[in-house]
Formats: sequence, structure tokens, C-alpha cells
Amino acid sequence: MCIFAKDLEFAWRPGATVVAVSEFELRLGDSVFLQGESGSGKSTLLGLIAGIIQATSGELNVMGRPLGAMNAAKRDAFRADAIGVIFQQFNLVPYLTLLENVLLPCRFSPPRAARAGPTNASRKDAALGLLDRLGLGAEAREGRAVSALSVGQQQRVAAARALIGAPSLIIADEPTSALDAASRDSFVDTLLEEAKDASVLFVSHDAALAPRFDRTESMADMNAAFAPAAKGA
Ligand SMILES: Nc1ncnc2c1ncn2[C@@H]1O[C@H](COP(=O)(O)OP(=O)(O)O)[C@@H](O)[C@H]1O
Ligand SMILES: [Mg+2]
Repeated sequence: MCIFAKDLEFAWRPGATVVAVSEFELRLGDSVFLQGESGSGKSTLLGLIAGIIQATSGELNVMGRPLGAMNAAKRDAFRADAIGVIFQQFNLVPYLTLLENVLLPCRFSPPRAARAGPTNASRKDAALGLLDRLGLGAEAREGRAVSALSVGQQQRVAAARALIGAPSLIIADEPTSALDAASRDSFVDTLLEEAKDASVLFVSHDAALAPRFDRTESMADMNAAFAPAAKGA
């Protein structure tokens, strides 16, 4: 199992629960499309799964690791090793080149670096290979700065950075919201192809993408299904 959540609850403020998931599972190698209205708690759930924030209550295991029992430093290290995250705003580092951005996770995680390649040169080749398949090989070889890329190109850099060193789980938070329909479809197809050995959790409000995934979950349904003991009492 890649993700297992049970009675998972999170509130930004006391009494204002935004995530209340009775059960959620993502098996190794599966891809899930998580759909939901703006404000329904999708990004918060991804933050919990990525270990950026910690649940108020309940159980959350990622790759068998109980995130609730890990401190922030352990969760950060685990995220660097095992999870590739694509943020809505990309979070690329503007003063690094395109290639340096893609190789960033290898600097934070020795296991991830080792999976990308045994030497700096081989890791660079792995990054260039990924960028070639994402249609950015020429820009990377030119040493292009990320600030000199279009939004669609930046999104593909963010995808390459998430994929480098084969993390077990890829999390994507509305990565296509700035793309037109044709770029959106080809971005998702390339991402799923490159991540075919990983589990993928992809969040969007755009239902047109759902058929490309193994399964669809609705944030509203997941939240509605939760009935904590306190509510029934
Ligand atoms: N950092 C934060 N601090 C306080 N409240 C937040 C924060 N992030 C999100 N929220 C609130 O949590 C709810 C769910 O937000 P979010 O998870 O971002 O939803 P979605 O990604 O589905 O649009 C919203 O009501 C939002 O205002
Ligand atoms: Mg969001």
C-alpha cells in the first residue's frame, strides 16, 4: 500500500475541520484523480500526505511509514526520499538553471540521488533524459534560466523535478490549471507515462481529466463519509 488513511482529521483552527476522511487507500502503482471544488480541502489533504502538516487525529501511513509518529525533520527527510511533489505554483528556484532545478531533490536526498544515478554526470544525464521526454532538452542544454520559460515549460520542469530519482509517490496539486486544454492533456499523459512505476495522486477541479486515471475520488464524498464518534455522541 502506498497511502493508507483512516479517520483522518485536520483543522486549521479548533472547530473548523477541513479534512475528515474515514478511509482512503492508494495502492502501489495506481493513479488516483482527486476532484473537488475550490476550498474543499484538497491541498490540505495533500499537505498531510506529503508530511508538510500533521493530522489533528487519525491514522496516515505513506509507504508503510506512520506520519503521525514522525517529527517534522523526519517527515521532511521522508518526503525528499519518497515523494515527488508538483505544486500549483511550481515553486521553482528562480536563481537556479532549469537543470539545477530538476536535480534539486538529489541534493536533499542521498537515496534519491543514488536512484537517479551513481555519479553527478549520470544524474545529469538522467535529468536531461527526463527533460528530453518532456520536450525541454534543448532549453536545458542551453543552460536556460527558469524565469525565461513559459508557464507550460515551467510546469514541465516541476514535473521533471518531481520524477527525478524515481520517488514511490507523485503528488500533483492542480498542475494544469494554467495550461490550455491541449497542453493539459499532453502534460498529464506524459506525467502518467513517466510515473508508471510510481503511485500518483493528482488533484484537480477539472473533471475532464478523470478518465486518464485508474480511479476518481471526490473530496466532498470523502469528507461526507466521515462520522467521528464525537458527532454520534
Ligand atoms: N494555511 C492555511 N491557514 C488557514 N486556513 C487555511 C490554510 N490553507 C487552507 N485553509 C482553509 O482550509 C480550507 C481548505 O482549503 P484547501 O485545502 O486549500 O482547499 P482546496 O485545495 O480544495 O481549494 C479553506 O477553507 C481554506 O481557506
Ligand atoms: Mg488547492
